[in-house]
Amino acid sequence: MLELRNIGLTMNDENGHPKEILKKIDLKLEPGKLYGITGPNGGGKTSLAKVIMGIYPQTTGEIFLNGQNISALTVDERAKLGISYAFQQPPRFKGLTVEDILTIAAGKKEPRAIRKKLREVGLCPEDYLDRNLGTELSGGEIKRIEMAQILLRNSQVTILDEPEAGVDLWTVQKLSNLFMWGYRNQPDKITLLISHHEKMLPICDEMIVINQGEVQKRGSTQDVWNLMKDELFSKNREQCQGEVGV
Ligand SMILES: Nc1ncnc2c1ncn2[C@@H]1O[C@H](COP(=O)(O)OP(=O)(O)OP(=O)(O)O)[C@@H](O)[C@H]1O
Ligand SMILES: [Mg+2]
Repeated sequence: MLELRNIGLTMNDENGHPKEILKKIDLKLEPGKLYGITGPNGGGKTSLAKVIMGIYPQTTGEIFLNGQNISALTVDERAKLGISYAFQQPPRFKGLTVEDILTIAAGKKEPRAIRKKLREVGLCPEDYLDRNLGTELSGGEIKRIEMAQILLRNSQVTILDEPEAGVDLWTVQKLSNLFMWGYRNQPDKITLLISHHEKMLPICDEMIVINQGEVQKRGSTQDVWNLMKDELFSKNREQCQGEVGV
């Protein structure tokens, strides 16, 4: 069980003014479940992921993994305990090849597993293993390599931050299938899939909507999805009406 108790995050904006990004988030996340996290841009999803991973230290509250208080642990310590985070915008590690980074993710030399994962994310090992992770790969390729890394890590807690961002439609379908088989109904795994995509969210067991730093809704995927569709429809109508009056 991953438990967030009263998590708050305040950071300074560009002008040095404090800004409350997360407000009193309480969440209990159970093993065996794939959770879809969604909500408006700027709502706090990535910040929440970074707090769980230890990249941003929370301002208030505590985090527990299987009853252990991990609130003060570093990113490395949390990674060792089995928490992984796939960035919304993955960093580019200059000087490393795709094979290097996937070997690090696997934790040992596993050429067959590495090749298999690359194929699963739609990249031919022959074409990619020796490529440099600097600037020569496209945004979508980097994102797919990040997915291969996260699949190789096979962690207890996995946070996927918009895995579909910048990835072509064929690969989105592939990733959605991969996550469905790899992360759903895995008795000891907790997966948080941050997404806005209609191919991704329906595969989740539960959905959590984060808006303005708070948990706005939580429930079965079907229920939350239906509520959101109704809201989107009424918002679109409001906008259209406003534009007519201009
Ligand atoms: N390091 C930071 N310093 C200051 N403000 C930040 C920092 N990181 C995020 N924010 C602010 O926190 C708010 C939430 O950002 P966050 O990236 O968590 O949103 P998000 O829900 O992931 O949005 P999106 O759907 O666009 O990815 C935004 O207003 C953002 O500007
Ligand atoms: Mg984000």
